[in-house]
Amino acid sequence: MSAKRAVIVGIPGVGKTTVIGRVRELLIEKGVSAKHVVFGTIMLDEAKKLGITERERMRTLPMSEQKKLQIKAAASIAQMTATLTLIDTHLFIRTQAGYLPGLPSEILTTLAPTNFFLIEAGVADVISRRSSDTTRNRQTTDAATIEMENTLARGILAASSVISGCPIKIVRNESNMVEATANEVFQALLE
Ligand code: AP5
Repeated sequence: MSAKRAVIVGIPGVGKTTVIGRVRELLIEKGVSAKHVVFGTIMLDEAKKLGITERERMRTLPMSEQKKLQIKAAASIAQMTATLTLIDTHLFIRTQAGYLPGLPSEILTTLAPTNFFLIEAGVADVISRRSSDTTRNRQTTDAATIEMENTLARGILAASSVISGCPIKIVRNESNMVEATANEVFQALLE
């Protein structure tokens, strides 16, 4: 298999981290060297140097600080070598000033992705997953905001595809169907 760098995005709570974990396992079972890189975790490692210890707090930092962390994280990911790198990140981050792009053109240039996947789920499923996830201190959001963010995600995804020249694939993560969702991403990566 030729080396690939897949960027996998989705609104918070859609289940992308869960899906990516399973995609990685499927790739490893197939003998492919695959790495799951959580962009937010790499940013948090840098943010800890500023005294920030909780991932949810990063989006409350001044915009200039968030951008610096973004650039550092992208540069660090660009150095990674694996046949298949699965980059778990966001198209946009909700901040006090509005939505900050997670993958502005300079970050896309540094990451040089080969594939884009957008994970989607029904609004009620996203609300339920956010509220029942005890591993995170998650933001609660109303249905109308989630609908609007789903539309925004598709628009930014299209722009990212044009900038990077990468194909985009939109995959539904239906309730209790992680295996099917992961399999759809896995099959697309084998192309
Ligand atoms: P990040 O590290 O990506 O946050 P996260 O909390 O790990 O991820 P999400 O909130 O997106 O959750 P998820 O959709 O992956 O859901 P999960 O699999 O956990 O980002 C943290 C921060 O980093 C951001 O806020 C931002 O500040 C910063 N950041 C990141 N990228 C950035 C960038 N590019 N630029 C600037 N800042 C950036 O699943 C949720 C729950 O649902 C779980 O309980 C799970 O078991 C359940 N579930 C999943 N799938 C299913 C299913 N099919 N059926 C039933 N339950 C399911």
